[in-house]
Amino acid sequence: MIGFCRAAHQLVCDGVPLSAIAEAEGTPVYVYSAAVLRARYRAIDEAFRDYPHRLHYALKANSTLALAKTLRELGSAADANSIWEIELARKAGFAPGDIVFTGVGKSPAELECAVPMGLRAINVESVGELARVEAIADRLRLTARVALRVNPDIDAKSHPHISTGLKINKFGLPLDDVRELFATIAGRRALKLVAIHVHIGSQITTTEPLARAAALVTDLVAELRGHGVTLEYVDLGGGLGISYDGGVVPTVAEYAEALLTHVRPTGLPIVIEPGRAIVGPAGVLVTRVIDLKPRNADSEFAVLDAGMAELMRPALYGAYHGVEPATIRAGLDRQYELVGPICESADVVARDRVLSPLAVGDVMVIRDAGAYGSAMASNYNRHPIPAEVLVEDGRWRVIRRRQTIDDMTLLES
Ligand code: LLP
Repeated sequence: MIGFCRAAHQLVCDGVPLSAIAEAEGTPVYVYSAAVLRARYRAIDEAFRDYPHRLHYALKANSTLALAKTLRELGSAADANSIWEIELARKAGFAPGDIVFTGVGKSPAELECAVPMGLRAINVESVGELARVEAIADRLRLTARVALRVNPDIDAKSHPHISTGLKINKFGLPLDDVRELFATIAGRRALKLVAIHVHIGSQITTTEPLARAAALVTDLVAELRGHGVTLEYVDLGGGLGISYDGGVVPTVAEYAEALLTHVRPTGLPIVIEPGRAIVGPAGVLVTRVIDLKPRNADSEFAVLDAGMAELMRPALYGAYHGVEPATIRAGLDRQYELVGPICESADVVARDRVLSPLAVGDVMVIRDAGAYGSAMASNYNRHPIPAEVLVEDGRWRVIRRRQTIDDMTLLES
């Protein structure tokens, strides 16, 4: 069995006890399973096997180099959200033609760099941005490959902070603007429209909004054909949710079918930009209990050495992550409020959890932390960015060393 599971009271990652990694590398430390990462990528890839497709892994979910390289080696392309993610992708070996540049705000300097790179597409988010791309391409006597990101006004029914498909959200071009552009786009020498793009949000747990977005894109493809424009592909973004709490989420087969039902009749290849669904379950955050104290009649505080600086999701979205001790102690279960060490009352990792008894020094494991964990870590309270470890074939190696105070102050004077 691959991944994170219990063997004789010990939580192991591909056979390696997490407590051994904590002992050797210190805590907090992110630990990833190469086997799970590969299995997740392959499962999604397989689900689309009967149809021309490409996975552009969303680097924003986790762009640690060794993980990005591992995915590239499996055949993944990349979705980059800034010029720095593009540079990271290049360092990981992705060719420019395998990178789409997404993002709601691309600065003039980012566009100046990106336009001549020969990316698969710049996913444009506004009429103004399209004009800026065009002006650069025109000046450089190039043709910029662009996709139009449509705001479909569809509710992804995810957390409001990570829903992007409603009209009131800042993302994408309003449909009216898209349709207006259709009339003129073919005649614009410096632009080549290669795709329509949609991304309605993240951690989406029903296929219905994803299917509606796919249907809308399909309609737009037909409208474009009416204007004499044939696209190269459609880009349906990322967003497939994972089960953090054991709740039901769509299978990869259901996900693929929800999209392909609509895309198939167009005959166009499909691009998707999954992040979380690939890397989320492949990582955990390993931390230690550094203090215990009474909370109320029913529960205790367990203060961990990792909190919102290392894993922001619980504080930012009230997100649920499974948390469990690496080694189960004998004794009656108790209720714990698992909190981080940061000076903020929002720094709660997990509320009201019933666990086997904890002691100071115990190693704790925060599950499903591979996506938007290390990628969103900060130096708040001058916490160092944690070390990261990749377990592969029963051995582990450090893929990112823990930051030091000298690393942190290197850039300061
Ligand atoms: N494509 C675009 C244009 C995106 O904006 C995103 C995520 C993705 C793809 C990948 O979505 P995924 O497959 O991972 O759902 N920090 C939040 C999630 C923010 C998602 C931002 N955009 C969290 O921790 O839940």
